[in-house]
Amino acid sequence: MNLRQLQANFESLATDDPLWTVLSDNAKRGGKWDEAEFYETGVEVVDDLESRLGQLDIQLGGDTAIDFGCGVGRLTFPLSRHFKTCYGIDIAQRMVDFANERLSRGPKCRFVVNEGARLEHFEDASVDFAYSAIAFQHISPRYTLEYLRDFDRVLKPGGLFVFQLPSHLNPERAENQKPFRLIRKRFHYRCKAVLQRFAKLLPFIQSESFFEMNAIPRDRVVRFLQETCHFKVLAVQEFQAAGPAWISYLYIARRK
Ligand SMILES: C[S@@+](CC[C@H](N)C(=O)[O-])C[C@H]1O[C@@H](n2cnc3c(N)ncnc32)[C@H](O)[C@@H]1O
Repeated sequence: MNLRQLQANFESLATDDPLWTVLSDNAKRGGKWDEAEFYETGVEVVDDLESRLGQLDIQLGGDTAIDFGCGVGRLTFPLSRHFKTCYGIDIAQRMVDFANERLSRGPKCRFVVNEGARLEHFEDASVDFAYSAIAFQHISPRYTLEYLRDFDRVLKPGGLFVFQLPSHLNPERAENQKPFRLIRKRFHYRCKAVLQRFAKLLPFIQSESFFEMNAIPRDRVVRFLQETCHFKVLAVQEFQAAGPAWISYLYIARRK
């Protein structure tokens, strides 16, 4: 799916049910998330991040942080405790508006829309910390690699980059043991994306907004960070944020 389609999908999902779009628990579909409970899940994720970093002797802190694919600011607000300014950036205007309406949760946050495959609001070597969770998994790998390369540009030397990304399908799941499972999934997404394009021109064609799930194999990500970009990978930890069907990792890397 190209970025324009991705944006249209998230815009429409966020208009219908922003909290469920971020945390897609079936029991909470249709506006059933309690907002306080929803935002509390973000505090837990950031506490867990601090403890993972603490085990590597790393403390969060600095002037500027980015939360990429921030949604409604679930993680941006608790992250902002550690920084002078914490930018939440997202492709969907509706997500950014929702977060901006709740700035009392984190007055040091700034939420902005980022539409392209580059981090257009940020100067070279201007950011101390960048984070992303459950966002790259919805983006085609070709764009994810472009974003990773641009984080290489915007992070200061010594800056920290922590992000989650699925690596491959979980081979232990029965449904993943069917032949060509990943190829079939990709084909299915491609068909849906093509259908969406036609639906724009031919309104009698029904096509719903959807999430695409993507993965990049762990070894390829590590090689890309270390050989194409200028990161030293400090740790790659299991992080099952993409649901049980996927093996997903948290990458912790420092800009050289
Ligand atoms: C599942 S939500 C996760 C939000 C947030 N990271 C969290 O965990 O609370 C995924 C978010 O990524 C955003 N997103 C998807 N593709 C993006 C892109 N190319 N650039 C920026 N944001 C993107 C979506 O609009 C959505 O808000």
